[in-house]
Amino acid sequence: MDAFTDHWVERFSDVYDEERLSEICWVTGSVNPAVQGLVIDQVVPRGSRLVDLGCGPGVHAVFFAQHGMDVTAVDRSTAALARGRELAAFYGAEVTFLEGDILDVPVADASADVVHDSFVYHNVRPEVRERYVAEVARVVRPGGLAVLTEFSDRMTPGTGPLRLTSDDMLLPWLEHFEVDELRRFRSLPTEKRPDQWHWLAVYRRRGA
Ligand SMILES: C[S@@+](CC[C@H](N)C(=O)[O-])C[C@H]1O[C@@H](n2cnc3c(N)ncnc32)[C@H](O)[C@@H]1O
Repeated sequence: MDAFTDHWVERFSDVYDEERLSEICWVTGSVNPAVQGLVIDQVVPRGSRLVDLGCGPGVHAVFFAQHGMDVTAVDRSTAALARGRELAAFYGAEVTFLEGDILDVPVADASADVVHDSFVYHNVRPEVRERYVAEVARVVRPGGLAVLTEFSDRMTPGTGPLRLTSDDMLLPWLEHFEVDELRRFRSLPTEKRPDQWHWLAVYRRRGA
């Protein structure tokens, strides 16, 4: 079964080929303020081996590389990866872009200090969440982090990704991770959705 809900599987297969980045609603041109804060506070420090899952056009991957991280960025859209490679080349940033699935990430066990997920988990089908979390847990070393930003249930209801509750954010993760931080934050407004209430989650892999 595909990891993403049907609507989004269809959408992601062509969006990066057919639309300019400026027309794609989740592309704000910048990294959200909560993730910036994690870098400023060195929760995600320079030198981290970071895997960015569902990297899209690479905005976060390039940001992390610019801040001294060793970044592998994974997406299954070749068009998204092509955009990411262009962006990294523009900055002269070193990012390894890999085509792959979030349920079968093409990296070794425990090879990441940090797994980053921006706007991926909120598109994952509820019945596949535990498989996704298990795959993230395979990739992160014990004591390492999973950092997520997702739509929260404080967002206006409507089309688009699932609005996740605190249970959605917590329960599937607790078998493999402790929770260092979980909070809603206001992120960058977009034209269609000025009220952006997202989750920031920082989970720590058990077993250190
Ligand atoms: C909403 S976009 C988020 C992109 C980026 N992380 C960001 O915040 O701008 C979700 C991304 O997940 C990718 N994706 C969808 N299903 C996937 C799968 N099964 N495995 C890997 N990537 C997938 C899509 O191609 C898309 O780039």
